[in-house]
Amino acid sequence: MTGVRVMQPVGGPIVGVPNVPGSKSQTNRALLCAALAEGTSRLSGVLFAEDTEAMLDAVVSLGAEIEVDRENTSLEVKGIGGDLNFEDIAIDCRSSGTTSRFLLPVLVAGKGNVAIDGSDQLRSRPFDEQIKALRALDCILNETGAPGRLPIEVVADGVNGGKVEISGAASSQFISGLLLAAPLYAEGLTIELTDTPVSRPYLDLTVKVMNDFGIAVEQPNESTYVVKQGQYSPSDTEIEPDASAASYFFAAAAITQGKVKVDGLHRESCQGDTQFVDVLEKLGAKVTWGTNSIEVEGNQLDGGTFDLRDLSDTAQTLASVAAFAESEIEIKGIGFIRTKETDRIAAIVSELTKCGVEVTETSDGVIIKPDKWKLKGASIDTYDDHRVAMAMSLLGLRVPHIEIRNPGCVAKTFPDFFSVLEKLRPTAIPLTEALAVAAIDGPAGSGKSTVARALAVELNLPHFDTGAMYRAVAVAALRQQVDASDPAAIAALAKTVDIRISERTIVDGVDATEEIRSADANHLVSVVAANPDVRRILVPRQRQWATELGGGVMEGRDIGTEVFPDAIFKVFLTADLQVRAERRFQETAGQTLDDVLQDLKRRDHVDSTRDDSPLEVAPGSVIFDTSNMSVEAVVAELAEMFRLRVEG
Ligand code: DC
Repeated sequence: MTGVRVMQPVGGPIVGVPNVPGSKSQTNRALLCAALAEGTSRLSGVLFAEDTEAMLDAVVSLGAEIEVDRENTSLEVKGIGGDLNFEDIAIDCRSSGTTSRFLLPVLVAGKGNVAIDGSDQLRSRPFDEQIKALRALDCILNETGAPGRLPIEVVADGVNGGKVEISGAASSQFISGLLLAAPLYAEGLTIELTDTPVSRPYLDLTVKVMNDFGIAVEQPNESTYVVKQGQYSPSDTEIEPDASAASYFFAAAAITQGKVKVDGLHRESCQGDTQFVDVLEKLGAKVTWGTNSIEVEGNQLDGGTFDLRDLSDTAQTLASVAAFAESEIEIKGIGFIRTKETDRIAAIVSELTKCGVEVTETSDGVIIKPDKWKLKGASIDTYDDHRVAMAMSLLGLRVPHIEIRNPGCVAKTFPDFFSVLEKLRPTAIPLTEALAVAAIDGPAGSGKSTVARALAVELNLPHFDTGAMYRAVAVAALRQQVDASDPAAIAALAKTVDIRISERTIVDGVDATEEIRSADANHLVSVVAANPDVRRILVPRQRQWATELGGGVMEGRDIGTEVFPDAIFKVFLTADLQVRAERRFQETAGQTLDDVLQDLKRRDHVDSTRDDSPLEVAPGSVIFDTSNMSVEAVVAELAEMFRLRVEG
């Protein structure tokens, strides 16, 4: 598989009710139980994806008869009952961990020779624990490739069962496989866990599905499962939407200030990954649990430490969300995801780092120190891991130029992922319903002024330079020799000064177009802008200014956060400090590049740490790194994003 998908930032909130496909985990468990049952089962809400197709083909080769209705996502499965006699058969599990680890303990219970294999990716994943447990039960298994890995040849001749010990530290799938196979063993099976298993909710899911198909599982204590020999009976089962797949849409709502509802998931849901919304809630999102739905609404996202041992498939989703958080996020308890489809911890580190996120690997997870100013587009390697592709695409909702390489790898569990995400793209807002304000914020040297002016021309809209207002007050103060260290005097001046800004900037009737850019004005303006009373006077004037002219392109430091937090389009322009310094250096005479750089650093610090309306990335805004771009290219992209947001 090859190709690249370039993500287009949404430029507004993700809102909607995505059509999330059925749970992979439940589908593959139910499919196997139905295939082993005596009679016909009906499964609805089934996932059709590579991992479940692998299980489907496998159970057909064992003799199950299946009627597939892809359109209605349902299956009718006529099970094989107790008949597990096969001649020489070969089973290709493709890249499916569940298919291979569920089938291996089942196959040994039959009679005949089986070769079980999978893709190169699956061949590189561990099977040691399960092989060891099955050998302890006297099963004959030969690894024909590397030890502890697929391919494996099974000489099946039934299993007596009894008692077995197994570790669940690497994967709960080994235990789930033994549980699912246990009723086929002559004496049933008692499974003793030698440690606390990872992903415990998946074991609960296995037990639940086995119960659905008529098999009881006793749990006398935390580390013991007891299953008697028995026969699966058919069941009509409705598969829940996949909670891991839903995590991407909940995250999309959280990071774009949107609202996403997923029907079919609820508190009593059998999937542990529904707990991901509890994590989002702790970060600051609003979560509403319905009787048969979960809704997540975006809000400012704080930091925190989260142990995802039980819901590790959402670790990559959280890592992407963390890039937009206000403070540090630590994800722990997930060391074992190094042996999933790829080394997922390594993938989080390398791919988020490419996008400007500071990530540190720990022994059992990652620490992410977000700095939204530094986010930038990148070409994302997906390592043939569906979850890398889906999680990293979330960055592209707000950061231009995120491209996902080999996007087709999502087919493993969610073939339609990108089109379902695309359907949630915000629709254009009619101009009759909203003021068409494009809010453009960013630090000095980010290209804000040049871009905002050119964008206004391109869109044929008025341009508002709010910085010029603060500068005009500074000019008035200089002219009238008002004491700059007297905040009340400066505020009084802001109240009375007459400012007109169009082609030229007129202060108290006198042209000040050049004066507002003088060295003295440059110096004084940050003091003026940091004065809360001045802001209280100028911000309403800025709102009135844009409202009277029917909207436009408004640039400043607090447009998306304070002046128009509901602007239909919000952008934060950034650029490398070095690049910004070089740009400013071209425009200023008499300073060295280092002087300019130090001055920018100081201004960034003052602007972003002042108490009143500090310069920050507005929630949900597009974060656009302009370091390597021409003004024309930035304007063209912003114009396109803006046009998608308005109708008419
Ligand atoms: O963008 P500029 O350099 O012309 O801005 C002048 C000053 O005003 C600068 O210190 C940032 C401040 N400013 C602000 O605080 N809020 C705005 N909306 C615009 C500018």
